[in-house]
Amino acid sequence: MAKISKTAAKERIEQLRKEINGHNYNYYVLNSPVISDFEFDLMLQELASLEKMFPEFASPDSPTMKVGSDIAGKKTFEFATRTHRYPMLSLGNTYSREELAEFSDRIAKTIPERCCYSCELKFDGTAICLTYRHGRLAYAVTRGDGVKGDDVTANVMTIKSIPQQLEGNDYPDEFEIRGEIYMPFDAFNRLNAEREEIDERPFANPRNAASGSLKLQDSSEVATRGLACVLYHMLGEDLPFTTHSEAIAAAKSWGLPVSEHSRVVDSIDEVYRYIDYWDTERRKLPFPIDGIVIKVNRLDWQRRLGYTAKSPRWATAYKFKPDRALTKLLSIDYQVGRTGAITPVANLDPVPLSGTIVKRASLHNKDQMDLLDIRVGDFVFVEKGGEIIPKITEVDLSKRPADAVVPAFPRFCPDCGAELVRDEGQAKHYCPNSNNCPVQIKSGFVHFISRKAMDILAGDATIDQLYEKGYIRHLSDLYSLTKEQLLTLDGWKDRSAENLLASLEKSKSVPFNRVFYALGIRHVGEANAKLLAAHFGSIDAIMAADRDALVQIDEVGDIMADSIIRWFADPVNLEQIQKLKQAGLKFEQEKTKKVSDTLSDSIFVVSGVFSVSREEIKQFIESHGGKTTSSVSGHTTYLVAGEAPGGEKIKKAEKLGTKIITEEQLRGLVADQI
Ligand code: IVH
Repeated sequence: MAKISKTAAKERIEQLRKEINGHNYNYYVLNSPVISDFEFDLMLQELASLEKMFPEFASPDSPTMKVGSDIAGKKTFEFATRTHRYPMLSLGNTYSREELAEFSDRIAKTIPERCCYSCELKFDGTAICLTYRHGRLAYAVTRGDGVKGDDVTANVMTIKSIPQQLEGNDYPDEFEIRGEIYMPFDAFNRLNAEREEIDERPFANPRNAASGSLKLQDSSEVATRGLACVLYHMLGEDLPFTTHSEAIAAAKSWGLPVSEHSRVVDSIDEVYRYIDYWDTERRKLPFPIDGIVIKVNRLDWQRRLGYTAKSPRWATAYKFKPDRALTKLLSIDYQVGRTGAITPVANLDPVPLSGTIVKRASLHNKDQMDLLDIRVGDFVFVEKGGEIIPKITEVDLSKRPADAVVPAFPRFCPDCGAELVRDEGQAKHYCPNSNNCPVQIKSGFVHFISRKAMDILAGDATIDQLYEKGYIRHLSDLYSLTKEQLLTLDGWKDRSAENLLASLEKSKSVPFNRVFYALGIRHVGEANAKLLAAHFGSIDAIMAADRDALVQIDEVGDIMADSIIRWFADPVNLEQIQKLKQAGLKFEQEKTKKVSDTLSDSIFVVSGVFSVSREEIKQFIESHGGKTTSSVSGHTTYLVAGEAPGGEKIKKAEKLGTKIITEEQLRGLVADQI
C-alpha cells in the first residue's frame, strides 16, 4: 500500500468504517446490497491494512473486529441469569374472531376514540430481550420465567442481522428492544438433514431448533445454525415516540431488524382482512409464524390500558389453528436405516391434510411411542406444523376401540433377525449386524453411489437387482462387475451396461473426502468427512489416529470418535479399504497447490467461523507455505480468530502473547507481499 500520512489515514479509516457499516446494514437488514461482495471485501481489506499500519486507530467498534474480538473469550459454559428491568410478559391469545371483537370492545370502553391497531405476524421462535447502551449491544437475555432470563449475549452476537453498534446518532442512551429469534425453514431443513445423517435426533419444529440453538454452549456452533431475528417491542424511560409503529420505524433506521409485514389499520374489520390474507399467505413465508399479533398503536393509550398480571391489555394474539386431521392407525412398520437404526413408522388410514394425502408418519423411536401411549387401531391426530413430515401429536382416547393392540417394539431386526441393541443415552434401537443385514447392506450401496458420495449413475432398483443376483455383497464388488453380469439384469442392454461401467470408472477420480463419506461410517456426515479428510490427509492417517487425535478436531465429539474407531476395528472394513485401494479409488487428499512462500516462517492456529470453511482457511495458509496446528503453544505465531473462536484458545494466546488476527488480517499478510 502506498505511503499515507497519519491524518489522512485517520480520515480514511473513519470514512471506511462508516461506509462498511452502511453496507452491512443494506446487506443484512434491508436485504439489498448496493455493492458487490468483491467491492465490499476490498473496502474491508483496505481498512484492515490501514488499521495494521496505524494500530493507534484500532477500535473494538471497527467492522474488522465485528464479532471476532468481541466474542473472544465469551464462550459460555453456563449462562448467567439476569433480572429483566421490565418483566417479560406473554400475550393473551385467541383462536376466534368473536374473542377478537370482545378485545376491541373492551378497548373501546377505555378509549373513546377510533383506535388504530398495528397488525403483525406472530413469529414462531423464542423471545429475546436486547439492551442497547450508548448504541452498543450490552446484553441479550431470554425470557426465562419472565422475571429473570439467561444471558445469551455471546450467542446472539453471532446472529448477523443483529447489530452490535447502531447506525445514526438519534437513538436513546439506553433502551430495550424485544423480539423473536427464529429459524427460517431452509436453515431448519438443512440442520435436520445434517442431524439425521449423523444419527442425531432431528428437531421437532423450527421453534425448538431456534431455542435449542440459542442455548448451545459453543457460540461457534450457534453461528452455523442460520438463526434470524425480528424485533417488535421497544421499552425504555422517556422514549421520544407517540406510537408503536414510529418506535419500530426508528429501530429500523438504527439498523435493527424489524418485520416488513406489519401494517397499521384503523378498524377491526381491517384486522380481519389482515388475518384472512395471512391465513393463506403464511404457507408461502420462508419462516414459521403461528398467528397474528394485534397492538393498540398509540403509546399513551397503551399506558392507559395497562397490564393484567400476565399480559398487556393493549395487545393480543390471534393464533392460526395448526392443520390437523384425525385418522386411524392401521399398523406400525419398523424400518431399518443404513446404519442399522430402527425407526417406527405409522401406517395411517389415508387422510387429506393441507393439500396432500397423509398415509404415513414417523413415530421416531420407542420413547415417543410410549409418550403417546399409542395402540394399533387408535384414532390419532396428525399435524403439519412448520415441519414438512407430518407427525402424530395425540391419541383420541375417547375413540379407543376395545380391541386396540399395544404395539410390541421388536426385539429382533425385522430384516435379518439379529437381536437389537440400544446404547446408553441413545433414543434409537440398532441392528448391530451391519455386515450381514440385507437392508443395511443395500442401503450402504445406495449411500455409496449417491451424488454427494461417489456419484455413480445407478438407482436403488439396480442395487436391489445386483444384490439379489448375488453380484454385490461388499462395496468393492462394484468395481469387479462385468458387462456380462450387467446384461443379465432386467431390461439391461449394451448401452446401459456400458454407461454403468463408465460411471464406475469415472468414480475413481472422486476426491478422498467424498470417498471417505461414501464408506458410510455412522455419525460421519458429508461435512465431517470433509473435515477429517482435510485434517488427516489420508485414510491411513485417520486409521492410525487414536481417540485423542480425533477429538482434537473441534467438530469431532466422543460419539463420532468412538464410531470411527469401532468402524476401523472391524477386519471386514479393513479388507474393503484394501480392495477399494486396489480398484484405484482415492484414499489420499490431493496436496494443496503452492502459491507462495510468504507465510513459510509462521505457525498458525485457526479457530472460529469464517467467511469460508475453516479447512479452506487452513488450505489458504498452507498454499502460502504456512504451517497449521490445532492448539496454541509457545511455537504458535498467529491465532487466526473468526467469529466466536474457542475461548480457551484465546485465553492461551493472550497469556503467551501470541498475535491474534482476523481473517482479513491473515489475507492482508499475504496481500502486503504481492
Ligand atoms: S409483542 C408484552 N409481537 O409471541 C408482549 N410478540 O405468545 C409483547 N411474538 O411473548 C409481545 N411475534 O414471544 C409481540 N409481532 C409480535 C410477536 C410476538 C411473536 C411472541 C412473543 C410473545 C409471544 C406471545
